[in-house]
Amino acid sequence: MNPRIQILPDHVANQIAAGEVVERPASVVKELVENALDAGASRIDVSLRNGGKTEIRVADDGCGMSREDALLALDRHATSKIRHAEDLQRISSFGFRGEALPSIAGVSRFVLETAAEGGSGTRIRVVGGRMKGADEIARRRGTTVTVSGLFGNVPARAAFLRSAAAETRAASDGLTVLALCNLPVGFGLRSNDRELLALAPAGLRERVADVWGEAEADSMLDVDWSDGESRLAGLIQRPDAARTGRRRSTFVNGRPFRDRGLGRLVDEAYRTTIAPELRPDFLLYLSVPQEAVDVNVHPSKTEVRFRDRPRVERALMEAVRVRLGRISSAPELGREPSQGAAPGPREPAVREGTGPGQFALFVTEAEAGAETDEEAAGGGTVPLTAPVRPELNQLHNTYILAATRRGLLIIDQHSAHERVLFEELMGRFRESGGHAQRLLFPLTLRLSPAEYSAVEELAPLLNRVGFEVEPFGDRTVIVRSSPNPHAHFDAERCFSEMIHELAEGSPLVDAAGNQHERIAKSLACKGAIKAGQPLSHDEMADLFDRLFATELPGHDVHGRPTVVRLTLEELGRRFGRA
Ligand SMILES: Nc1ncnc2c1ncn2[C@@H]1O[C@H](COP(=O)(O)OP(=O)(O)O)[C@@H](O)[C@H]1O
Ligand SMILES: [Mg+2]
Repeated sequence: MNPRIQILPDHVANQIAAGEVVERPASVVKELVENALDAGASRIDVSLRNGGKTEIRVADDGCGMSREDALLALDRHATSKIRHAEDLQRISSFGFRGEALPSIAGVSRFVLETAAEGGSGTRIRVVGGRMKGADEIARRRGTTVTVSGLFGNVPARAAFLRSAAAETRAASDGLTVLALCNLPVGFGLRSNDRELLALAPAGLRERVADVWGEAEADSMLDVDWSDGESRLAGLIQRPDAARTGRRRSTFVNGRPFRDRGLGRLVDEAYRTTIAPELRPDFLLYLSVPQEAVDVNVHPSKTEVRFRDRPRVERALMEAVRVRLGRISSAPELGREPSQGAAPGPREPAVREGTGPGQFALFVTEAEAGAETDEEAAGGGTVPLTAPVRPELNQLHNTYILAATRRGLLIIDQHSAHERVLFEELMGRFRESGGHAQRLLFPLTLRLSPAEYSAVEELAPLLNRVGFEVEPFGDRTVIVRSSPNPHAHFDAERCFSEMIHELAEGSPLVDAAGNQHERIAKSLACKGAIKAGQPLSHDEMADLFDRLFATELPGHDVHGRPTVVRLTLEELGRRFGRA
């Protein structure tokens, strides 16, 4: 053996490069559609045969190419999109690496038909990377690329392709993402002559409806957040509609990118507004200065790198959080019902009502009230300057009805109080101020072994939320003081239930991120005012004001709504006034 170094012939080099750019039919579709978008197309039609394994065709009405350019386009690193290394810093096109066409042509039978002006155009045929001819043809302006027998000359790669259905789905998903960031462009997708997508130019909501249906579009909330330099806009799902989170995309400066970390962050921002096993859909469009993001970190351009990632993460977190804090994120009556959303039954109601309480609901004094305007209420986004509280009425000792300018809020008193307590308790862990009330007669409780060791472990934290508790040996604890969240509070029952939950676990506390949150969730749930409890007007008013002073007033800590909205529009529809 005498190995000699050789420069690889182009067609071999292109096959190697294809390994990075062309993985499967979906990647071919993505590269060709990106080229069409870069060419300024207003209409792009994709058709697949056998999941693209037999044939992929992408036709556009973009600027097209002259014969000279068409021939050049098939060379490696041939691109019209950048000239200098510095251009890499401010890329606004989808392509820039000049690799896609030669890579694709290297592993298929490839036909490029293109014309820069209507009339005369060029057809170039390439087989397995070798040019087979360039003919003059008649065609209208634009470009059509046909790719047949993908990986026909690379059997090892062909073997990795999935079923036609799976490849079609992947191509369709990829095209959908591009359609979601190119709203003024029309798209078509056909598979074996069956139409899968037909998208006219549209606004974002409309496009979502065209792709996934009206119900999906209806379940989405608009987000638009900015800090002057960066902007985050798009759609996030109403918590009550969240399911599997399969429809998630992130875009930066109009370009899709994948980032699981940011997805997890969105989940984090939804924490406590949805049940832990649910995932919201979202489409988030980030605009940042060009130099704040590097798009050239991956051959298939699916990932990006942010110069200041913590800043992006903060923006994302805040944009989502602020939006979920607005009461319009609560479910609306008459809209798509949230099938099976409620995770588990609610707390049992107390029926042994003791008559209207004589004390304020809360020991601490009430803060400024909330505005009645639904959108202005809560979230801390709008200064609560003019506290105008609507008239409040209790229904079945369980719900509070509040008339607003846009309709009616129906508040679940237990859920609402749970949210209030949860945020108060989390605040108490941050600040460490005891709001305990010494009990006249200390409680002596005998616990199970698991409960007893939970108390031993958690005593300092329990103290912080107002339970001064002392393990006494022999599975017995003494509770000397307790919090006093409302006038109807039963300290012994709340303590026992909470310790049981903390010792044994439950879906609620097991979803908590840390020990503080575990305790706050459990105590909020066990300590909140119950359904079936009659409330005085002052108690309702207090609860209302405190609810709308929380960060997420529309959602309790189980991931259920605290509020259901009935809008005037819905009433109008029902009564035939619309
Ligand atoms: N559909 C198209 N319409 C017009 N020009 C195209 C089209 N597809 C490719 N081109 C031209 O061919 C060049 C090479 O394409 P490609 O290999 O995908 O590299 P890149 O997109 O990174 O520049 C492009 O820069 C562009 O000038
Ligand atoms: Mg390209």
